[in-house]
Amino acid sequence: MPALVHGFHLFRQADPGPVDTKIRFVAIPGHREPAHKGCDRPWRAATEIVVSLKYKHTLLLVDDEGHITKALLRLLRREGYEILCASSGPEGLEKLKAAEKPVSLIISDQRMPGMNGAEFLEKAKAIFPHAIRILLTGYSDMDALVDAVNKGEIHRYFAKPWNDEDLLLQVRQSLEQYELFVENRRLLALTARQNKQLKELNEALEEKVAARTEEIARKNKELTTLNEQLEANLYNTVRAFASLVETHTPAVAGHGRRVGTLARRIAEQMGLAEEEVTQVEIAGLLHDIGKLGLPARLLDYQQDTWSSEEKALYRDHPKNGQATVHFINKLDHAGLLIRSHHEQFDGHGYPDELSEEEIPLGSRIIAVANAYDKIVNLRVSPHPSGGVRQKTGNPGRASGATRAALKEDAAQHLKRHGFTWYDPDIIKIFLEMLKAEGAAEAGARWVSLEELRPGMVLKKSLYSSKGRFLIPSATILSADMISKLKAHYATDLVCERICVATA
Ligand SMILES: [Fe+2]
Repeated sequence: MPALVHGFHLFRQADPGPVDTKIRFVAIPGHREPAHKGCDRPWRAATEIVVSLKYKHTLLLVDDEGHITKALLRLLRREGYEILCASSGPEGLEKLKAAEKPVSLIISDQRMPGMNGAEFLEKAKAIFPHAIRILLTGYSDMDALVDAVNKGEIHRYFAKPWNDEDLLLQVRQSLEQYELFVENRRLLALTARQNKQLKELNEALEEKVAARTEEIARKNKELTTLNEQLEANLYNTVRAFASLVETHTPAVAGHGRRVGTLARRIAEQMGLAEEEVTQVEIAGLLHDIGKLGLPARLLDYQQDTWSSEEKALYRDHPKNGQATVHFINKLDHAGLLIRSHHEQFDGHGYPDELSEEEIPLGSRIIAVANAYDKIVNLRVSPHPSGGVRQKTGNPGRASGATRAALKEDAAQHLKRHGFTWYDPDIIKIFLEMLKAEGAAEAGARWVSLEELRPGMVLKKSLYSSKGRFLIPSATILSADMISKLKAHYATDLVCERICVATA
């Protein structure tokens, strides 16, 4: 049967299948509806409207006139809907309350005794708020219809008598709208559920990350402790090596330790990285370890009495020193610094005749510290080929005046040989460092650890050999502090002399 719907003339093309199959309506071009509410428009070009539903829906029909309900039932049953019927508003409400699954669409007559359609639909809304509500009205019910529409209690209305195809299509469109609404709610609920799960996962992840971070921090701490132990062991090894050199040549006792400490201070003053500073200090400590095994007469700094073979033997000590530490882990770089500690800035040193920047910076630093200590503490005139014992006396404790003169000699020596033997930039930094220390030493004297007594005041801050800050200057030493310093010295402290205020 033809019908006019939204400007399209529609025919049911085939028998209706199940509700989840597509129902096809086809417009017939050039056809006119014979007598339908005065409509006289020509049919438009052939167009297909395909409407499909996803779910099997339950509908409720309410009308006090049995033949109306039966007509609707006949019409809608063909669509495969499950249909409930009631002959009054109260019965309709009972059917809704007793329904085993949600009712998707309700069609109610307006004019019914007792409870009219608008009142019934208002109450039905409380039971199934999302169901599509449709009112069946006659033209004389327009006031009631307008009122019901304005109150939002109905979604559509059908005027009696209705057109079957029109009604079927509108029911189907209404159900499609209902499905969209249900789908929207389902997606919203799904999104909310997934958001909740995501939140829970995030929280669990955060907990896992926190636990993992804590675990990493704990492992790092363990590694740090292990590293510190390893470094302490390394340092003890280095000190043992240094002791070997001193045992072999008692005349230079303390030279390696002093050069190491001095080299560290210069490196720090130059702003080198802590790792490099440590390597410079270690290399300073061990710079003459290659002298182990040299004949005793080559250790007395009388190079002017040596034969050419002996001089050549002596000149091998930087290479031998590198070879000695080569197989100790973490001392590779220190080995390189040891190898080059007799290179000269002008390229006339040994063993590789490097010059200027070719010489590792640490080696240039050690060369300066080595020369200074030789003059001030060993009373030796440094010379690349071996050095000569000075006539001013033997190594040992010098008086204050002699020591000051020796320091001045050392400064002059370094200035004299800047650009030739030594790196002038390092000399400049070193002499400024000494000058600052001289100012700090005014009114101070140097004592050994053994000479420390409770009540003495530290004139300069005390650092461990590793550069660790121990006690600030101006501290009045207690017996407890001194015993702790002696305990610390057993593993770490290298500095031999401590600057305290004169009494
Ligand atoms: Fe040397």
